[in-house]
Amino acid sequence: RYVWLHDKMIKEEDAHLPFFDRGYYFGDGVYEVIRIYSGKPFMLTAHWKRLERSASEINIEMTVTKQAFSDIIFQLKEKNEIHNGYVYFQMTRGIEERQHLYSNDLSPVITAFAKESDIPLDKQKHGVSLWAMEDIRWLRCDIKTIHLLANVMAKNTAFTHGAEEALLHRGNTVTEGASTNIFLVKNGVIYTHPADNYILNGITRQVVIELAKENRFPLKETPFSLIDISENDEMFITSTTLEIVPVTCIRGSIEVTLQPGIVTRKLQAAFQAREK
Ligand code: PDD
Repeated sequence: RYVWLHDKMIKEEDAHLPFFDRGYYFGDGVYEVIRIYSGKPFMLTAHWKRLERSASEINIEMTVTKQAFSDIIFQLKEKNEIHNGYVYFQMTRGIEERQHLYSNDLSPVITAFAKESDIPLDKQKHGVSLWAMEDIRWLRCDIKTIHLLANVMAKNTAFTHGAEEALLHRGNTVTEGASTNIFLVKNGVIYTHPADNYILNGITRQVVIELAKENRFPLKETPFSLIDISENDEMFITSTTLEIVPVTCIRGSIEVTLQPGIVTRKLQAAFQAREK
């Protein structure tokens, strides 16, 4: 396998990472996961913009132009012959001996790899279950940082309870999943948490909002509560790797059984039909 380190593509076994990378000690860095469909990157500009924003919000100098970002993704997927899969792209603040206070003249460290990955058709068809639990993350969930311990713990707690994903809530307000955005369809209206500091503004989320507009499905970027969720509603989760996946069961803080519904199915079809 070929991976990207700093400014070039090399064999994975030749990739030696600097010992004092701040990403390793502090999770001091940002990342993106970009889908490849039939050899073509999906929503490249949106990913680059989000990376730029994430970096800027934590004062990492954005050293990667959109062209360079695009070139790295293209080269990785070509060399590794990725047909359907994704590219993981990470940028840390840089290298210096461990201290909380960072220097302003560091060069960001870039690492990226590509991976073949099928579309999870089974989950898309049959749905997944969620484990509802308190969202204990920090208050800047809008930044796509590599500091993901709370997300890692949430996902693993969900798995321990036989669920595929966590449903995170602050008090009664549903925020998002450990690595997905969450939508509720109630009386024909689609609700999802607004893109503020409590959630990551998912690229798939943004596509779903566009698709809802195009298909004239009423959609409100308004928070919904645990007590709003009833078994007559539809719920689905979205991410780059999952696309749109219905939720059929929630356990944990609440217990609800749901069916994949007509709005979810129409959005899935619209997502498939969208040019990639
Ligand atoms: N996760 N919310 C969180 C906390 C996420 O980590 C992600 C993505 C999303 C969905 O965003 P998008 O539609 O842009 O993939 C929402 C990626 C896939 C990951 O960490 O692997």
